[in-house]
Amino acid sequence: MILVTGATGLVGSHLLYHLVSSGHKVRAIYRKGSNIYAVRDVFALYTRAIIPLWRKVQWVEADLNDIPSLEHAFTGIEYVYHTAAMVSFHSKDQSKLYKTNVKGTANIVNLCIARGIKKLCFVSSVSTLSKEADKPILDENSYWNPDEDHNHYAITKYGAEMEVWRGTQEGVPAVIVNPGVILAPDMQGRSSSGIVKQYDTGSRFYTDGRTGFVDVRDVVSAMQKLMQSEIQNKRFILVSENLTYKAFTQMLDKELKYEIPAKRASKGMVMTISILTSFIGFLFGKKPKLDRDTAKALFKQNQYSNKAIQEAIGFKFTPIEHTLEWICRIDGNY
Ligand SMILES: NC(=O)c1ccc[n+]([C@@H]2O[C@H](COP(=O)([O-])OP(=O)(O)OC[C@H]3O[C@@H](n4cnc5c(N)ncnc54)[C@H](OP(=O)(O)O)[C@@H]3O)[C@@H](O)[C@H]2O)c1
Repeated sequence: MILVTGATGLVGSHLLYHLVSSGHKVRAIYRKGSNIYAVRDVFALYTRAIIPLWRKVQWVEADLNDIPSLEHAFTGIEYVYHTAAMVSFHSKDQSKLYKTNVKGTANIVNLCIARGIKKLCFVSSVSTLSKEADKPILDENSYWNPDEDHNHYAITKYGAEMEVWRGTQEGVPAVIVNPGVILAPDMQGRSSSGIVKQYDTGSRFYTDGRTGFVDVRDVVSAMQKLMQSEIQNKRFILVSENLTYKAFTQMLDKELKYEIPAKRASKGMVMTISILTSFIGFLFGKKPKLDRDTAKALFKQNQYSNKAIQEAIGFKFTPIEHTLEWICRIDGNY
């Protein structure tokens, strides 16, 4: 039996659909208060026969930081997909990020060791890769540089990767995937799922940054293929295309049929907004809508190589243009 953590999240819910629809026995973790019915909406993206598939999922309540509940969830499990994490770029979330991403992953890894799990797949992020002066395109060997200016999310994803590598040393075969920005139809704005909708309904701006993008269907397909392969104790970047934010908004404008292009937001303007919203957040005791770390990230110029996964399993990525067509069709009325 397969265990999926983070099954109510963006990656976890798409993964859950693909696992149960291909006949696997799956146990899925939800937290007290998780909206498991949002997962049904994800199933509905792929099939009309939601109920029979839904009934195949064995839901179990557990929290990454509650070991007894995890012990119960691990009963009879052979394979683990660990997608659960806290995704936040707010500096205020520092201790919660550490508790969920690093300590939570340590708890999963410890149970994988104790229960002799056959293989673990962990979802990390491209944020754990560091730039090297002579290498413009980052790859799986672009190791963490502690002297670089990292945000707390990246630090905790790196800490989580270290926990997984510890597990491999203690006999748990594992694969790690490092996706770029994951594109998917809107799931009530959760994680990166609402990007297209937010762009269409909010202000259409771009900044002078560049990053890697990937389709959620590619992420879960690569994870399954890696788990079914003989490959172990390796990590793989999952990025379909590296795009400047300008090129990304141009693709979106084409799909959404905007004739007037998005406007460029200067660094000075974005940093000023981040200072103002942080100050307002401080005054009212709320998280700022755009904090300093997020603002800085919008200007990073990163490119990632996807050669390793193509060579390892012959993986083919969906072009981002096709992904955006899919999302716009589903998010509707465009
Ligand atoms: N989205 C992206 O662009 C992106 C890019 C690169 C890497 N990633 C990585 O991909 C993975 C999945 O991210 P996502 O986008 O699917 O995020 P998400 O939609 O926010 O899902 C996170 C999942 O983790 C669960 N979770 C959080 N804290 C937990 C805890 N203490 N105990 C048990 N479950 C907990 C959440 O449960 P609730 O439903 O109860 O909140 C949810 O199911 C993460 O590891 C993230 O770092 C994401």
